[in-house]
Amino acid sequence: MARGNSPEIVVVGQIARDLVLSVDEMPAKGGAVPVRRRQEMLGGKGANQAVACAQLGAGTALIGVVGDDQAGDNVLRQARSDGIDVSGVVRRQDASTGLIVDVLEPDGGWRYLEDLPTDVLLTESDVEAARSLLEPAGSVLVQLQQPSAAALTAARLGKTGGARVVLDGAPAQDDRGAALLAAADVFRLDAKEAELFCGERIGGADDGLRVGRELLRSGPSLVAVDVAGKGNAVVWPDGQVFLPLIDTEVVDTTGAGDAFTAALTVALDHGAPPPQAARTAVAAAASSVERAGGRPDLTGDALRVQLDRLTAVAPT
Ligand SMILES: Nc1ncnc2c1ncn2[C@@H]1O[C@H](COP(=O)(O)OP(=O)(O)O)[C@@H](O)[C@H]1O
Ligand SMILES: [Mg+2]
Repeated sequence: MARGNSPEIVVVGQIARDLVLSVDEMPAKGGAVPVRRRQEMLGGKGANQAVACAQLGAGTALIGVVGDDQAGDNVLRQARSDGIDVSGVVRRQDASTGLIVDVLEPDGGWRYLEDLPTDVLLTESDVEAARSLLEPAGSVLVQLQQPSAAALTAARLGKTGGARVVLDGAPAQDDRGAALLAAADVFRLDAKEAELFCGERIGGADDGLRVGRELLRSGPSLVAVDVAGKGNAVVWPDGQVFLPLIDTEVVDTTGAGDAFTAALTVALDHGAPPPQAARTAVAAAASSVERAGGRPDLTGDALRVQLDRLTAVAPT
């Protein structure tokens, strides 16, 4: 929990304008197809995680960078109306706000077109400037898709203030990456990131649990590893659980990892023990795959519906 009136959870990461275009099929080269549905929304991994945290009832702040363009105005307006504290968002002069186009087919197949200019990546000084948000936070959620110097500054400022530091993604295999892991309390990897980071194929539940236990030794006290097409391994010093995917209709997996990480963070921040936090995270991911685009809707009984479908698996 945060101290005083400060936001409980501070998310450090990407903010973008998301354009989700649903089509019946991709056009061939030189061809054209009609767009069945166009949705424009606040997006980017950081914003999606912050939206999820706010929807789950946590006081949430976002640290990221947008341009000084109209797209920047629009995404910030949306973030504010989502109840997110955007005082730590930098408006970069003469920069264009990031744009992610998600072209989506009916079977859930997606293709992303990304325009993410380097000047809307976070710098160390952007993060330093948000010190007053980071130090009193209960949890600081840091995306490793941002430059590692900025990510490390965020993790260190969070740690100094006593926050739970949550890392999302694979750190570089260098001194900075090792320092990030040493500062982390929670570490979550999607399937691609896990295989890349561990340098091996992670084919099933046993692999996910084993890799998770190995990663515990590098610093964090809870590790979550996504096993492609199977489920999520969650391990902590005195226990572990493998939660299979929830049987649901997959519209678009985009942002399901972000919903997972956000829900895990909020649950731990609110005092849930690891097995319960893991279930909440998986329920949030399953809710997210039912929707087009990365923006979650975890309001109302969204989590309850998924938790009821989650096969009971006892932690070991
Ligand atoms: N049906 C489902 N039930 C539960 N979890 C799911 C389901 N489908 C996908 N997930 C989880 O969603 C996450 C997707 O993560 P990821 O690929 O990182 O998405 P993104 O990077 O777009 O947020 C994984 O942890 C995966 O296990
Ligand atoms: Mg991911």
